[in-house]
Amino acid sequence: MTTVEARPHTPLPRVGPSGDGSSSLLAGRDVLTIGDIAGDALPFVLQTAARFAAARGRGDLRGVLAGRSVALLFERPSLRTRVSFELGVRELGGEPVVLSGPEIGFGGRESPADVARGLECYVDAVVARVVRHSVLEEMAAATSVPVINALTDHEHPCQALADLLTLRQRFGRLAGLRLAWVGDPNNVFRSLAIAASRLGVEVRIAHPPGRAPDAAVAGVVRSTTDPREAVAGADAVYTDVWVSIGDEDADERRRAFAGYTVDAALMRHAAPHAVALHCLPAHRGEEISAEVLDGPRSLAWEQAANRLPVQQAVLAALLAR
Ligand code: CP
Repeated sequence: MTTVEARPHTPLPRVGPSGDGSSSLLAGRDVLTIGDIAGDALPFVLQTAARFAAARGRGDLRGVLAGRSVALLFERPSLRTRVSFELGVRELGGEPVVLSGPEIGFGGRESPADVARGLECYVDAVVARVVRHSVLEEMAAATSVPVINALTDHEHPCQALADLLTLRQRFGRLAGLRLAWVGDPNNVFRSLAIAASRLGVEVRIAHPPGRAPDAAVAGVVRSTTDPREAVAGADAVYTDVWVSIGDEDADERRRAFAGYTVDAALMRHAAPHAVALHCLPAHRGEEISAEVLDGPRSLAWEQAANRLPVQQAVLAALLAR
């Protein structure tokens, strides 16, 4: 005889009126930077994401975005962001509409502002990956529906949220953790450093001379040009590609970042329990060794998986009724 065990009941994530006002902290807002998830909204989104992650696959989340539609616009290539947003919207009962820049003549056939106004005629929110952050701001200014940053040259807030959820899952807390970033103080670093420091994480960065973080971030991180100094005793070591799409100085960047590879020798300076983080895609042998990325300390694939519930949590919060 087969015994079917009763599945323990997990309450659905609350995204409607919560009584304490937390679910409406972001209602109707844009998320262009991580700073737009202000105050208590940041822990609230992470908490909601954890509950969505736990409820995933149970098929009982379809009421969250029922009757809602979300445009997903990609001016740049994407694997993780596109798939996690598209499936995430569908799992919540919403309708995703995926568009590529060339497909709609973004910025040529039609201005970004008119694209945003056009989309507003049909959808309840716009998720956009665009090259220049100012273009995203132009879109948000032109439309009354929420606009979410799916990566610009300035920030990648959805990635930072997934990274924080991953760290919290691994360590059970965020406050007091030591996070070392090795390499380029780029868009992912900017979002993560700002959010992590707000939640009590000590953030350090090792960067080549002349490539320090900008003023907005410099005040919340400890900077050095020595990777071993940044990594010393760290709980997590994070790196990202040295050359991104659109960087025209690829050779110069590779020369500048040589010596900033996260490899097994560098990881030995971190805490014995330290994890390695990478937002992907990765270039093994450049910013990270294959041994570290594919080894037991790597949480890169957990970070990728967590993109889905954090983005669901953001959408649910912005579209809370
Ligand atoms: N990390 C990240 O944003 O991945 P994609 O570029 O594949 O979306």
